[in-house]
Amino acid sequence: MIDLLLAKYLSSSALATAMGEVDPAFIQDPQHRPKISPIQAEGIPTIDLSPITNHTVSDPSSIEVLVKEIGSACKEWGFFQVINHGVPLTLRQNIEKASRLFFAQSLEEKKKVSRDEMSPSGYYDTEHTKNVRDWKEVFDFQVKDPTLVPLNYDDHDDRVSYWTNQFPEYPPNFREIIEEYVQEVEELSFKLMQLIAMSLGLDAKRFEEFFMKDQTSFIRLNHYPPCPYPHLALGVGRHKDAGALTILAQDEVGGLEVKRKAEQEWILVKPTPDAYIINVGDIIQVWSNDLYESVEHRVMVNSEKERFSIPFFFFPAHYTVVKPLEELTNKQTPAKYMPYNWGKFLVRRKGSNFKKLNVENIQI
Ligand code: SIN
Ligand code: FE2
Repeated sequence: MIDLLLAKYLSSSALATAMGEVDPAFIQDPQHRPKISPIQAEGIPTIDLSPITNHTVSDPSSIEVLVKEIGSACKEWGFFQVINHGVPLTLRQNIEKASRLFFAQSLEEKKKVSRDEMSPSGYYDTEHTKNVRDWKEVFDFQVKDPTLVPLNYDDHDDRVSYWTNQFPEYPPNFREIIEEYVQEVEELSFKLMQLIAMSLGLDAKRFEEFFMKDQTSFIRLNHYPPCPYPHLALGVGRHKDAGALTILAQDEVGGLEVKRKAEQEWILVKPTPDAYIINVGDIIQVWSNDLYESVEHRVMVNSEKERFSIPFFFFPAHYTVVKPLEELTNKQTPAKYMPYNWGKFLVRRKGSNFKKLNVENIQI
């Protein structure tokens, strides 16, 4: 028996070919299918950020302890949760509510703000991870005014690419709600980057230059509808995050699984109300020359409940050349990665979603 929500979703989306019928596009290879009863063992570490968010506490030894905790979480897990993080709960509630209202609309309404060549920010439900379709629908939003971030990376001529945000008419104040939330989450990201820098023995502000101007960060609203075959499909297939840090708000349903480094087993991340899940992305792996590693994760779906999540992807400026930091390399430990240009990487990854335009049309 398919419940009302699922029936509504299937009819309002191109996700399934027929009700209850398995669409092969979503089927994971047997070795990558989720376990029916996932391991919930020890769980990722939970870190209390009050030493840096509670302004009445300014005890240097508590900050030292915090830096150590962050360092070992990054080393052993690549994932951790933070509590007392300073992001006001009302802003999170506002964006979660806006996300629910947006996705509850008809497919026709949602498609009015579809991601397209001009706008890789927007709505879509056709994401594939490792060539298998993800059971989800998404709205992406670039956090800095994207028209001011031209990307002059065309190998063949001197044209530039750029993208624009678009906003749905419903729910009202969608843009303002997102922007208000982003401001706070961005502040949290800067604080976390300081703690991570200190944990690597670097100056607290070592990473700031990469994010102060022309950040390419974006925020994603994810909706995972109930799925008739949760043992075969995934909300998001296994992957690592390409950016510096991801700050994730997941709802109470749960479904995120992390590949535990030590045992190489999938561990379910139990939802904690008002906590944020943080993970190290590929850029920190490169900057730290593998001291910290970007860790594989994936999302399970279930047949009864829909799930919502909101990741914030903290990305540096487009012209950033990502390479192992000099302070962390030497003769004994040479750089393990060749430098790469972040903007070029982004454009290649987003591929045809970037429209090529003449330089004259761009406001720089
Ligand atoms: C993702 O890793 O892309 C999404 C994580 C989540 O929804 O929990
Ligand atoms: Fe991810």
